[in-house]
Amino acid sequence: MTPEGRADPFPLYAAAHRLGPVSPLPGGAFLVCGYAAADQVLRDPGFGLAEPAGPDPGDGAVRLMNQSILRANPPDHGRMRSLIAQVFTPRRVAGLRPAIEAAVGALIDQLIATAGGEPVDFMDQFAFPLPVTVIGELLGVPPGDRRRFRPLAAGLTEALEPAGGASATADAAARELAAYFVPLIGARRAAPGADLVSALVAARDADDGRLTDRELLANLILLLVAGFETTTSLLGNGLALLLDRPALAGSLRAGQIPVPAFIEEVLRYDSPVQAVTRRARAHGRTIGDVPVPYGSDLILLIGAANRDPARYRDPGGFDPTRTDVRPLSFGAGAHICIGNSLARLEAEVAFRQLLGRLPAITAAPGRPALRRDRLVLRGYQTLPVRIHPVG
Ligand code: HEM
Repeated sequence: MTPEGRADPFPLYAAAHRLGPVSPLPGGAFLVCGYAAADQVLRDPGFGLAEPAGPDPGDGAVRLMNQSILRANPPDHGRMRSLIAQVFTPRRVAGLRPAIEAAVGALIDQLIATAGGEPVDFMDQFAFPLPVTVIGELLGVPPGDRRRFRPLAAGLTEALEPAGGASATADAAARELAAYFVPLIGARRAAPGADLVSALVAARDADDGRLTDRELLANLILLLVAGFETTTSLLGNGLALLLDRPALAGSLRAGQIPVPAFIEEVLRYDSPVQAVTRRARAHGRTIGDVPVPYGSDLILLIGAANRDPARYRDPGGFDPTRTDVRPLSFGAGAHICIGNSLARLEAEVAFRQLLGRLPAITAAPGRPALRRDRLVLRGYQTLPVRIHPVG
C-alpha cells in the first residue's frame, strides 16, 4: 500500500508466497497469492462479488461500476454477460484485424516521422491511441471525441483501487462519461448503425429481456474503459521489457520466438491488472485446507499468482520460451475478461509491426520511464523512446 510497494510489489509477493497460498488478514479478510488457490476461487460459483453494503445513492463511479457485469452476481451477471456476448462475438473481434493493422501502421508512420529527432512518449503516441482507436471504432465513438477519454478513464478507474471507493475524481469522471454516453445511446436508438452500441441497444435474450437503461450505460462505459486502460498497459509493459533486452527483440524479429509467446509472458510477468476481489457467498468453502467463512472478503493477487514458484520455475525471470504459460491476468471462470482475445490481437499486431518497422528503437537517454502510482492497474504513465534513423 506504499508508493515503493506499488512501484515494485514483486519482493512483497515473494514474501507472501513464503507465508503460503492463502493468508488471513486482520479484520477477517484473506489474501490469496497462490496460483492454484486464486484459479480455484475465480472458478468457484461459491465466491462472487461483494454486494453493495446499503442503498447505493448518487450517480458516482462506484454505483456505475456496481451496475456493470464486472461487479454483478448471478442471476444478473449471467443475463448481462449473455446479452453482451451476443454482440461482442469472436467474429466481430476477428473482423477488427484490418482496422487494427491500419491503426498500428498509421501510428508507426508518425513515430518514424520523428526518427532522429526529439524523444517521444510511447504511451502518449502509441500505447494509448491504439486501444482507444480500436474500442472507439467498435463502439462507434467519433475519432475527434476519443482523446478526452484518457483522463476520464484514468479518473474512473481510481474507483477500482483499494482506497479509491469514494474518489471525487472518479465520481466526476463517471458523471462526464454518463453525460457523453446517454445522448450517444439515444442517437443510436433512433438511427441504429453497425456499431456495438446499436447492437447492444437491440440485444434481447431468450426471454425477450433487455439491458435496462442504467445497465446499458454502465456496461458501455465499462467496455470503453476496460477496453483501453489495460491494453495500454500491456503495450507499454511489453515495450519496456523489449527496450531492456535487445537480444530478445532480435530473437523475435528472427522468428526464433513467436510473438504470441512473448505476449503471454508479458501478461504473466507484468500483469496490467494485479488484483481482483471476491466475497465468499456460500457456506463451508475451503481453499486448499484453509476454511473461508461465509461473507469473508478475499483479495486475489493475480500479479503474484502469475509468479507463484509452485506454478512456474524461476517465476521472477522473464522467459518467453517457457511452456504452459497460462497467466491469470484476464481472470478465470464466470468473469473472465470478455475482451481478452481483442487485447491479445491488438498486442500481436502492434508488436509484429513495431519489431518489423522499428529496428532501432531505444529508451530515450536521460529520460526515465515513469510508472503509474497504482496498486491494481499496473502500467507506465510515460515511456520516453528514441527512434533512430536506419541505414
Ligand atoms: C490487456 C488487456 C486486458 C486485461 C489485462 C484485462 C483484465 C481483465 C480482468 C482481470 C477481468 C476480470 C475481473 C474480475 O474477475 O473481477 C476483466 C474483465 C472484463 N474485461 Fe478485461 N482486460 C483487458 C482488456 C479488455 C478489453 C480490450 C475489453 C473490452 C473491449 C475488456 C472488457 C472486460 C469486461 C467487459 C470485463 C467484465 C467481465 C465480467 O465481469 O463478466 N477487457 N478484464
